[in-house]
Amino acid sequence: MTETIYDALRESHETQRTLFRKVLRSKPGTRSRISLFTELRVELMAHEAAEERFLYVPILMDDMGLNSSRHALHEHHQIDELIEEVQSLDPSKDEWLAKVKELSHKVHHHLREEERKFFQVSGKILSDQDKHRLAARYRRDHARMQTVLRRS
Ligand SMILES: [Fe+2]
Ligand SMILES: [Fe+2]
Repeated sequence: MTETIYDALRESHETQRTLFRKVLRSKPGTRSRISLFTELRVELMAHEAAEERFLYVPILMDDMGLNSSRHALHEHHQIDELIEEVQSLDPSKDEWLAKVKELSHKVHHHLREEERKFFQVSGKILSDQDKHRLAARYRRDHARMQTVLRRS
C-alpha cells in the first residue's frame, strides 16, 4: 500500500516540531542557532507551498472544503509574516527568541488544527486514488521548493 498525502504531511509536521525544539534550545548568537533557524524556515515554507498546491487547492474547489482551505491559507500567510519578522531581528537578542516563540506557538496551533480538523474535512472530499496521487505530487514539490528556498 502506497502512502497517502496525510502520511507525507504529518512527516513534515514532525520535522517542524523537532526543529522548533532544537532552535529554542540553541545558544544565543551561535552559528548553530542561525543554521537551525534557516533549516526550519526552509522546511516551513516548502511545506506550506506544497501543501497549498496539493491539499488546499484541490479541496478549495469543493464547497465543503472552502472554509477550511481559506482558514489554512490565512494562517500560512500569518506564519510567513512572522518568519519575515524573525529575519529582521538580531539572533543574539532576546527579541529574536521572543519572536521565534511566537512563531512556534502559531505553527503548533496550526499543525494541531490541520491534523484534527482540516485533514478530516479533506478526507471526505478526496478519493483514495487522489490521496495517493497527491502524496507523490506533494513530495516532489516539497523537495523542489526546498532546493529553491535554500538558494534564496
Ligand atoms: Fe499548513
Ligand atoms: Fe501542514
